[in-house]
Amino acid sequence: MNYLGSKVRLSGFIFEQIKNSVNERLGDLSFCDLFAGTGVVGNFFHTKVKSVLFNDREYYSYIVNKAFYSKVNGHRYLSMLEELNQLKGIEGFIFEEYSEYGSAGRLYFNESNGKKIDAIRTRIEYLYSSSQIDKDFYYLLLATLLLAVDKVANTASVYCAYLKKLKKTATYKVKMIPIQRALKPVENTIFNEDSSVLIKKIKGDILYLDPPYNGREYSSYYHLLNTIALYDTNFIPRGKAGLRFYETSNFCLKKEAENSLLQILTDSNFKYIFLSYNNEGFVKPSRITEMMSSLGEYACSYVKYPKFKSCKTNSKQYTEEYLHCLIKD
Ligand SMILES: C[S@@+](CC[C@H](N)C(=O)[O-])C[C@H]1O[C@@H](n2cnc3c(N)ncnc32)[C@H](O)[C@@H]1O
Repeated sequence: MNYLGSKVRLSGFIFEQIKNSVNERLGDLSFCDLFAGTGVVGNFFHTKVKSVLFNDREYYSYIVNKAFYSKVNGHRYLSMLEELNQLKGIEGFIFEEYSEYGSAGRLYFNESNGKKIDAIRTRIEYLYSSSQIDKDFYYLLLATLLLAVDKVANTASVYCAYLKKLKKTATYKVKMIPIQRALKPVENTIFNEDSSVLIKKIKGDILYLDPPYNGREYSSYYHLLNTIALYDTNFIPRGKAGLRFYETSNFCLKKEAENSLLQILTDSNFKYIFLSYNNEGFVKPSRITEMMSSLGEYACSYVKYPKFKSCKTNSKQYTEEYLHCLIKD
């Protein structure tokens, strides 16, 4: 998934920096990915630490992170995917509101994918409500659907708008294919809360923070993934993009970002804190240095990193991605 702010290509760098800053055996420590998104950073650590904790306020992220640690038997998973892939499409909410020839005229999916998504999503709900699958399997199937949908969405990679004409990948058939899961069983806890609230209730060893750093709001950029995951078909999609109601994250508000960050740092009950933040973000690197230095031993490193690219923008621009490190007093 081409996720906005994804650290997939930075995970190795982040791991090396953390490993070198922590003066203890990683295998004895817990790791918390508090703004987890796709969970790639926490997942990178799952084979190396004692336990992992993920959190994100977006429901799709919660589903994807739950699914990575699902214990569903591989054969059962594969045969269920086969069954779901054979379903005949139906005219449901996703078709009507977000698909070609649907009544709302939004072109997020071609006609057959829109109908197929409705059929698969309806079937998953039925399987769970009739106790044919448990919650663990339910999350795994939902995550599989979200990742499958993302591959055929007719967008420039985020869902705040759809393209006027179907792009090539949007004409491919949506297909449920097995998703990557944990390589090793590890104690894991997944939350779906506001980080500013959750941070007061948890404690651990290593805290990794990757909040949004500008006004790009994930609830609007990925609204359709939440809608497919929740399938709460009784709301009226708003505007051209068919948005659902959401509250803007404080980290996406220029006036609030600095205080919210400082509050997280102060409230956190973790010894080692690492913060990914971009040099073009709402909070300037020098201010972060000040804030973190006042709380303990501080260090910082950075890498040059290509800017987020959607399929519309093809620029080769670079930005500096900072990793601020704090060992709390
Ligand atoms: C830069 S992305 C994280 C990307 C992630 N590290 C990855 O590689 O996929 C920031 C994440 O913070 C989440 N977020 C924003 N505000 C939040 C809040 N107040 N509490 C919890 N999560 C929040 C967003 O939903 C988004 O997934």
